[in-house]
Amino acid sequence: MHVPVFEDLKVIGGDKVTAVGMGTWGIGGKENPDYSRDGESVEALRHGLNLGMNLIDTAEFYGAGHSEELVGEAIKGFEREKLFIISKVWPTHFGYESAKKAARASARRLGTYIDLYLLHWPIDDFRRIEETLHALEELVDEGLIRYIGVSNFDLGLLKRSQEAMRKYEIVANEVKYSLRDRWPESSGLLDYMKRERMALIAYTPLEKGALARDECLSGIGRRYGKTAAQVALNYLIWEDNVVAIPKASRKEHVDENFGAMGWRLSKEDREKAVECVS
Ligand SMILES: NC(=O)c1ccc[n+]([C@@H]2O[C@H](COP(=O)([O-])OP(=O)(O)OC[C@H]3O[C@@H](n4cnc5c(N)ncnc54)[C@H](OP(=O)(O)O)[C@@H]3O)[C@@H](O)[C@H]2O)c1
Repeated sequence: MHVPVFEDLKVIGGDKVTAVGMGTWGIGGKENPDYSRDGESVEALRHGLNLGMNLIDTAEFYGAGHSEELVGEAIKGFEREKLFIISKVWPTHFGYESAKKAARASARRLGTYIDLYLLHWPIDDFRRIEETLHALEELVDEGLIRYIGVSNFDLGLLKRSQEAMRKYEIVANEVKYSLRDRWPESSGLLDYMKRERMALIAYTPLEKGALARDECLSGIGRRYGKTAAQVALNYLIWEDNVVAIPKASRKEHVDENFGAMGWRLSKEDREKAVECVS
């Protein structure tokens, strides 16, 4: 199936991805124990792909692997090489052999290779992180994953991890970043990653939907014919190296999040958006 070309693109590794992608935490997870909403979630993901969003974020941890299965279902029939699938290894599977095993299991559930594979969460034992990164480098050589990244790594740990790489670069760090939680700005992480041309993948960008209900952000959005959620996402993708991955299991939310792309807030309105939530 054709994936439409959309112009609001960012770079991860050497690939172009849409500035807004789709998260999947909760899809196929505990909040849905009887899988009754699986169909709706798959449809929402397919709807996003049909609109032109080409990036999906999942993890072995989400729904104990079931989220990856649903992503595998959703991407069926789409041109695989136009899509960018992110998955992650959970710390209990860090280590040379177990990380490789975990990646193979994720790829099996997805029914395809993984474009970007992340260490999901940092641990204290850096030698184990290092060993895992080296295992991932071998997985790149094997063709199971295409790029390596980390998640929830602060600036110091990110730099240390970059130094530990032998053959490939760390191309992304996925961290919590929203209008209400701007720690990547205050900690210097965002500026550093910009200089390193590394993608910052912003998770929980809508603060679980709360920012979509912010009256002050709605006021800013009205001037652009946009909603509060679209303002909140646009604030993030304003930075060249930032990609946002809101999770939406409803089609109307997918439509709205898609509409966060293709335009930009003025610098002044961006500052006003910060004031709204301060
Ligand atoms: N790397 C990590 O450690 C980590 C941690 C947390 C999250 N993540 C990733 O980041 C993704 C996004 O974060 P998140 O799920 O925590 O939070 P989020 O994207 O900020 O919020 C998701 C919630 O917002 C609702 N929503 C989505 N679009 C909306 C819109 N336009 N208007 C109103 N409500 C809307 C969704 O509802 P519906 O589902 O009903 O549409 C859902 O309840 C996750 O799904 C996951 O892929 C990664």
